[in-house]
Amino acid sequence: MISIRGVTVDFGAVKAVDDVSLEIPRNEVRGLLGPNGAGKTTLVKVIATLLRPNAGTAVVGGHDIAADPNAVRSMIGLAGQYAAVDDLLTGRENLEIVGALYQLPKAEAKRRADEALERLSLTDAADRLVRTYSGGMRRRLDLGASLVGRPEVLILDEPTTGLDPRTRLDLWAFLRDLVSEGATVLLTTQYLEEADELADQITVIDHGRIIADGTADELKGRVGGDLVTATPKRRADLDRVRDLLATIGTGTVRVDETELHVSVPVDQRVEALVKAAQAIDQAGIELLDLGVQRPSLDDVFLAITGHAAEELTPNGDKPRKRRARR
Ligand SMILES: Nc1ncnc2c1ncn2[C@@H]1O[C@H](COP(=O)(O)OP(=O)(O)OP(=O)(O)O)[C@@H](O)[C@H]1O
Ligand SMILES: [Mg+2]
Repeated sequence: MISIRGVTVDFGAVKAVDDVSLEIPRNEVRGLLGPNGAGKTTLVKVIATLLRPNAGTAVVGGHDIAADPNAVRSMIGLAGQYAAVDDLLTGRENLEIVGALYQLPKAEAKRRADEALERLSLTDAADRLVRTYSGGMRRRLDLGASLVGRPEVLILDEPTTGLDPRTRLDLWAFLRDLVSEGATVLLTTQYLEEADELADQITVIDHGRIIADGTADELKGRVGGDLVTATPKRRADLDRVRDLLATIGTGTVRVDETELHVSVPVDQRVEALVKAAQAIDQAGIELLDLGVQRPSLDDVFLAITGHAAEELTPNGDKPRKRRARR
């Protein structure tokens, strides 16, 4: 449904997208996972015909983005990273205008607006001005706008960033519905958890390049499974904790000198956690924290690239370290 070949986008010295090729079959949900500045939005803009690549081609539903951008636009619904809704109109008016842009008859535009409002739980707020909406409501309205045209291909740029956990779950459920009805979805995210939840296949990008590809399980497998992480009270105990965890884990022990914690991949999460607690307690080491987590994007990055996910500065020269997020 989406076929991308060798797409490259330069912004001066910055290669925002660097020779990316992707094939997304019909009815697949593809997660595009990467940290800030990885090139996700730039690639999305190319596919949505909002930005011309410096090199490469993309074909959406059989239509070339350069040769036939209008045909591409008629197939896709795009919800950008920042909600593009009009503050001075009501939610309903915003959606009806989108219908008018698609040149739907008035009654049909109204029907689809109602339907989108209903599906995104905005019916009660439909006749309020958007400027009275919360951030999450705007986000949902923006998604609703991307659905009015009944697109076969839905492109969502960080659809749940900034949403509260409940709204995020609602949105996930809603996206699953759309997919069961046959939509093809390209979704960008910074959260491995979100890609894991929704995507059939995940493409990891960093500095504009694809660095890994696979299902969530395959990617997590590269980290070696769940991670037990221990944070000793005293820095002086880091080495002893490392030695103890080495006997429990199934992979390489990692010591984070900044966060002052030690982590190791494990097989049986609960059993490993209990063992770690016992061993550390018997050694008389005091802990600030001990836990077991599913691997995060940071862990996957570390496993794949050997370095933490980095963020490019706006001028693209010096990468600076991103704080680990858990
Ligand atoms: N219009 C532009 N002019 C110059 N540089 C740009 C422009 N748009 C993006 N960039 C640069 O291209 C790189 C990729 O940016 P992009 O917005 O695609 O990243 P992203 O993966 O969407 O990040 P985020 O998670 O923060 O949204 C960054 O280094 C960014 O500074
Ligand atoms: Mg972006």
